[in-house]
Amino acid sequence: MTTMDAILAGKYPAKSHARRVAELLKEHEHDAPSIIYLEAQKTRFIEDNDESMPFRQRRFFYYLSGCLLPDSCLIYDVNADKLILFIPPIDPEEVVWSGLPLSQDEALKLYDVDTVLATTEVNATLASIASTYGANAAAFAIADQVSNGIKFQGFARTNLSVLKGAIEKSRVIKDRYEIALLRKANDISAKAHIAAIKASKTALNECEIEGAFIATCIANGAREQSYHPIVACGENGATLHYGKNDDGLIDPATKIRKKNVLIDAGGEYRAYCSDITRVFPLGGKFSMETRQIYEIVLQMQTECIAMLKGDVQWEDVHVHAHRVAIKGLLGLGLLRGSEDELFEKRISVAFFPHGLGHYLGMDTHDTGGNPNYEDKDSMFRYLRVRGRLPAGSVITVEPGIYFCRFIIEPFIKSPELSKYIDTDTLERYWGVGGVRIEDNIHVTKEGYENLTTAPKVIEEVEALAL
Ligand code: GLY
Ligand code: MN
Ligand code: MN
Repeated sequence: MTTMDAILAGKYPAKSHARRVAELLKEHEHDAPSIIYLEAQKTRFIEDNDESMPFRQRRFFYYLSGCLLPDSCLIYDVNADKLILFIPPIDPEEVVWSGLPLSQDEALKLYDVDTVLATTEVNATLASIASTYGANAAAFAIADQVSNGIKFQGFARTNLSVLKGAIEKSRVIKDRYEIALLRKANDISAKAHIAAIKASKTALNECEIEGAFIATCIANGAREQSYHPIVACGENGATLHYGKNDDGLIDPATKIRKKNVLIDAGGEYRAYCSDITRVFPLGGKFSMETRQIYEIVLQMQTECIAMLKGDVQWEDVHVHAHRVAIKGLLGLGLLRGSEDELFEKRISVAFFPHGLGHYLGMDTHDTGGNPNYEDKDSMFRYLRVRGRLPAGSVITVEPGIYFCRFIIEPFIKSPELSKYIDTDTLERYWGVGGVRIEDNIHVTKEGYENLTTAPKVIEEVEALAL
């Protein structure tokens, strides 16, 4: 058994998450005893249909329970340090269709909670806790995530405004169990990326590559995708969140196979995400142009990852990626001018328009990044994380260089900026589409740990695609 498997054989650390969140709520308690109340996502039905919608557990509830059951809820009694999970009782009408639900005894063995009760007992439990604390207890819950029938009877205050923020903040720093979950999601997705590259040998359409990716995730225990996979051949790779995934791999006009495929996809494992991008050549050999761009992007990524350690300023890492891109594009003759001038004029933003990465956890774009999408500076506007990265956080490092006409043409048409881009050289690169390389990095006090094992060395990728 690997260390990862041994960790995952234990319980999800719901109780320690509850304690961490309670600690962050302290300043709002006013020295009164308090409880945290959270609800799971409800079973919802497809409009005009008796099928339920695909289920995705509420992350705030999962963080304090580790429970993937719909229609559940929890109370954490902070003073008593007691975590109580409420699960739906047996509905005899439903058993014939769905089988017996998880029993309370089974749930107690499965989850890191002190007590398991039926959801029919929530109000009585709330009232009983309130009565033990007299008249001044506070209840913390999330606005719009409290069902109509729930009564905080006997509580002096109900605060619906601060719990969400406290959990979002707590989620930034991952414990070893969460790192094991993220590693597992990555291990499965690495297999799926390899399967997707191999599928390209016989595939005629992007959707066959997507199918190979998803099939491999499901077969290895990741039934859900962290986000809709992006499988983009040729120029489609220039669209950052391309999602059609239905284009032919052969150009219908020339009958020539497109140059390469960008695949940005990650399986989700027990509510934890992976987010990985790879680019591979169709036919097993990168074209000269794609290889040149790939080498620059790989250098951007390698150097940025090497900068990571607890407390690093994320903007500095993002800036470094732009500096490497500028040097590389100057070397290919795509840009003209001095490095500093190109940087000051934000010319590299035409080729690398997005942020270097984002926090990763139960959400692909995880909580706590404090972005500033109003930033007047185009280089930082789409940076999803601002400030220093704490040790224990997990961040994606995903530089890219794209040849997107919609973004680059305004630069070429601008009287002030056109001189910085060599349009003759650019003509040879449109077919590259886009190259992005994305790994998931655990930031530690002294450095980092790369959780992503999907191959990215040029020779390895080419061999898989051949
Ligand atoms: N897969 C979406 C992203 O990389 O942000
Ligand atoms: Mn990402
Ligand atoms: Mn991605």
